[in-house]
Amino acid sequence: MTRKLFVTTALPYANAAFHIGHMMEYIQADIWVRFQRMQRDAGGQREVHFVCADDTHGTPIMIAAEKEGITPQEFVAKIAAGRQQYLDGFHIAFDNWYSTDSPENVELSQGIYRKLRDTGLIVTKTVDRFFDPVKGMFLADRNIKGECPKCGAKDQYGDNCEVCGAAYQPTELVNPFSVFTGSTPILKPSEQYFFALSDPRCFTFLKEWLNTPGRLQSEMVNKVSEWLGEAGEKLADWDISRDAPYFGIPIPDAPGKFFYVWLDAPVGYLASLKNYCDKKGMDFNALLNDPATEQVHFIGKDIVSFHLLFWPAMLNFAQHPIIDKLKVNVHGHLTVNNEKMSKSRGTGISPLRYLDLKMNPEWLRYYIAFKLNSKVEDLDFNGDDFVARVNSDLIGKYVNIASRCAGFIAKKFDGKLATTLSPSAQQWISRALTVDGAERQASIAANFENREFGKALREIMEIADITNQYVDENKPWILAKDEAKTAELHDVCTAALILFRQLTILLSPVLPQVASRVSEFLHDEQISWSDTKGAAVYETMLGRTIGAYSHLMTRVDAKMVEDLFDKPVVAAAPAAPTAAAPAPALDAPPKGDIEELAPEIKIDDFTKIDLRIAKIVNCEQVDGSDKLLRLTLDVGEGRHRNVFSGIKSAYQPEQLIGKLTVLVANLAPRKMKFGVSEGMVLCASAADEKANPGLYVLEPWPGAQPGMRIR
Ligand code: 2FM
Ligand code: ZN
Repeated sequence: MTRKLFVTTALPYANAAFHIGHMMEYIQADIWVRFQRMQRDAGGQREVHFVCADDTHGTPIMIAAEKEGITPQEFVAKIAAGRQQYLDGFHIAFDNWYSTDSPENVELSQGIYRKLRDTGLIVTKTVDRFFDPVKGMFLADRNIKGECPKCGAKDQYGDNCEVCGAAYQPTELVNPFSVFTGSTPILKPSEQYFFALSDPRCFTFLKEWLNTPGRLQSEMVNKVSEWLGEAGEKLADWDISRDAPYFGIPIPDAPGKFFYVWLDAPVGYLASLKNYCDKKGMDFNALLNDPATEQVHFIGKDIVSFHLLFWPAMLNFAQHPIIDKLKVNVHGHLTVNNEKMSKSRGTGISPLRYLDLKMNPEWLRYYIAFKLNSKVEDLDFNGDDFVARVNSDLIGKYVNIASRCAGFIAKKFDGKLATTLSPSAQQWISRALTVDGAERQASIAANFENREFGKALREIMEIADITNQYVDENKPWILAKDEAKTAELHDVCTAALILFRQLTILLSPVLPQVASRVSEFLHDEQISWSDTKGAAVYETMLGRTIGAYSHLMTRVDAKMVEDLFDKPVVAAAPAAPTAAAPAPALDAPPKGDIEELAPEIKIDDFTKIDLRIAKIVNCEQVDGSDKLLRLTLDVGEGRHRNVFSGIKSAYQPEQLIGKLTVLVANLAPRKMKFGVSEGMVLCASAADEKANPGLYVLEPWPGAQPGMRIR
């Protein structure tokens, strides 16, 4: 039976260009799709539809468009126009790229919603929603940040935690703040629409769905089972509405209400498929209803709750035919040197810079594939490892075979391969391509199918190792010097190129560009997986005339990898001292006004104290304290710090919001009655605070940036 595969990657938000994490996900899905497409033989036909779309709705996109003075539609179109260069650049071949802001998505999302409503799973409740008092608008989940209510991680969005993966309501965040103004949001009542996930029907369905074999990775089954609880007691209703102004799809029969972006985003998978089917003259509904259809999502671990709770429940209770066909493959994040990528630490990788540096996209495809397995593990990029892996495997092992043998076929045999092979050559081929009597292609195929790409590539490299051993032992460059050994030379080079072709076919899901150049060189019209099986390995190669070999791939230059990373953000160098002006005569201070100097210290003592420029993004009174103000500080770390400072007597909060100041940033956090203080803001004060009670917060000269160190 032909498997019909409807494959997707997560739909990227249309608020920014792609980052390297997107490329990692698309590359792995693309490899899987290319592998499937190669199964053309009668036993394993595939019809593959690989689609994606921009995830266009929601407040961040609205705000970004507003900032640029254009409509959200114009903004999204601009982002969409920039997508192709990345996809082409990394050989990612989606069949269709569409948008959630499309008529198909409106129709499909509203249709699913109506069915859910008819089943009694949409409920309305008046709830308090966060409102930014400074900006005068309700805040979407992603516009509020705070500490995760489940694991305490700081700087998490209002919908789910990127550290522990928990989903929650924004009102559950600890110490919430508006990402627009830094102000503490206030709660305002508003009628909202909920998907009733707490309905016992949802638990019953999800429990069974999750545990259907082959649908999810075991880690995911365990994780989601935890979220379900023993009997669904942990499942909370999901707020699916947002108030105008909102860039989204209107909720039917609910004026001024829009679907929360996460309601219509996954429906965008279907919208893109429908759009594709319409363009191709295919029957969308027939495809969805076909028992041979499988829907396979590739997603990152940060968006699991949406795909493994809400999405299946939505599909099921909307009686959508795709629900029984749904499989979700979850991957970890891309890290650099085992840490989260950080622009300021200089570990960020820009995909466009990769391409601008003329780095070969297939190096990255290979490296990513080599490190991937089917588990939900992070994938670490390490520059040295990247250079070593690519140079050793692709250049040293794979390309090396062709570059050592192809020339002799052209020069000595008019480009024609031998018509028969010696028993010894046949034995080597068999040794390379079989293990324990079984064809290696079968286990390689199983590993590709199961997304064990690393294992597949290791097996392929074993074939390359054996082939190189064969070439090393037979030394065609020596045989070529002896006329009497011409037949032997022909035999060895033919066998080596047969194996090289096999390697190319097996590697082609990962290295499509190289494979296509090799196909040209070997005069293959279309390679397919069946060419790796049985007699097909030899049959079409013996006696074949091949073309001229040209070099397939260069080595990675380590310098390129250095240039690939963002430059670390370094503090501005102190201004060079100007020629000293004569010191003005100083008035002698009245005795007793100036504090005695503290004992002398060494520079090392001073450098232990890490002083940083901090921006006061918010400041507020602390209920119950007559001394303290609560400061929310941006110290350039990509998160906010909470600091209590005893300056209430000297400042009104509004005077401080937006100002820069100086923070002792490496002071151990201190648990206070009102919360934890993460550092200390510097102030000047007189020795005798009673006689002279002034307190003066320090402010740097203009130009200083949050996070700069003070030396
Ligand atoms: O996390 C994200 O980038 C979302 N835009 C993914 C959406 S996936 C699907 F549901 F659309
Ligand atoms: Zn958490």
